Amino acid sequence: METRICKDELDFAVELLERGEVVALPTETVYGLAADAMNPDAVLKIFEAKERPFFDPLIVHLPDLDWLERVTIVDEPLVKKLIEKFWPGPLTVVLPRCNIVPDIVTSGLQTVAVRMSEHPVFRAVIQKLGKPLAAPSANRFGRISPTAAEHVLAELNGRIPLIIDGGTTQHGVESTIVAVQNSRIEILRSGPVTREQLAEFGEVELVSRTENPVAPGQLKSHYAPRTPLRIANCRLRIADKTSALLAWNKPQDPALFKHIEMLSPTQNLREAAATLFAKMRKLDESGVDLIVAELVPDEGLGIAINDRLRKAATEPT
Ligand code: TXA
Ligand code: MG
Repeated sequence: METRICKDELDFAVELLERGEVVALPTETVYGLAADAMNPDAVLKIFEAKERPFFDPLIVHLPDLDWLERVTIVDEPLVKKLIEKFWPGPLTVVLPRCNIVPDIVTSGLQTVAVRMSEHPVFRAVIQKLGKPLAAPSANRFGRISPTAAEHVLAELNGRIPLIIDGGTTQHGVESTIVAVQNSRIEILRSGPVTREQLAEFGEVELVSRTENPVAPGQLKSHYAPRTPLRIANCRLRIADKTSALLAWNKPQDPALFKHIEMLSPTQNLREAAATLFAKMRKLDESGVDLIVAELVPDEGLGIAINDRLRKAATEPT
């Protein structure tokens, strides 16, 4: 299959989606691989293109709020408040699901993860289609999420018919995923909507990764480059390797590394998140044996960045 990459063929994207094909689309977080969420055969093509295991459920993106009630049951008033504040935007909410959502989308779970993207291209396509889109990140399973159309091409060339190029994505890390239980907000995946922002709405708990994850997105190894990646710490010895550094601080000893990428020269966490995956990808392609990554301050958006770095690391940290 030939993969076309273009900027403005939104009508063609809608036509393909109506025909049960998959299309890669930009969102404000990362690029998604979209298919009609109500068509199990179309959704199956997402799993095939990504080589994604069927136990890992997909996020359903909604065209408007009417669809929220058609696919989920919203019984917690707190959920309504969160949606009012953060939609459209990078917040995904896990809710009890209605039966019209195909099992393949939720991996048979009784819940469904829903969000509403604020990206103008994504919104234009989904509103014209008038139906929800199932859309995971447009990378091969377990790999680095794409923040530019070229990244999608590198991951899925020849497997999907169309990539709509909307430039680089704004946030650069995937949406924050929450579940609400008894008026408490559980963060299942850290993201652009921070713990501090959520804390204005109620008690917040960051659900730690368990042996048996509720959300397979909590799998320990994810977002991984092909080159081994280690978190920088004082015990790490790199003398016998050619290494690259993904740095937060200005490197003390730059000569130790073949390549260095600064996450943000001005130490701005927004910039660091927005460029994280592109820089990881660049270092992965630089031909080194090892990528050493520095953690960023564990606050605000830094929590999402460190979560991605730890999951990309080849050894538990
Ligand atoms: O920003 C994003 O969320 C991007 C863009 C494309 O929207 N999407 C994305 O999808 O990151 P994906 O499939 O790469 O990650 C979705 C995560 C998965 O780890 C999945 O396990 C979790 O959401 N998830 C989906 N349905 C769930 C459910 N019912 N309960 C718990 N976790 C769920
Ligand atoms: Mg993903």
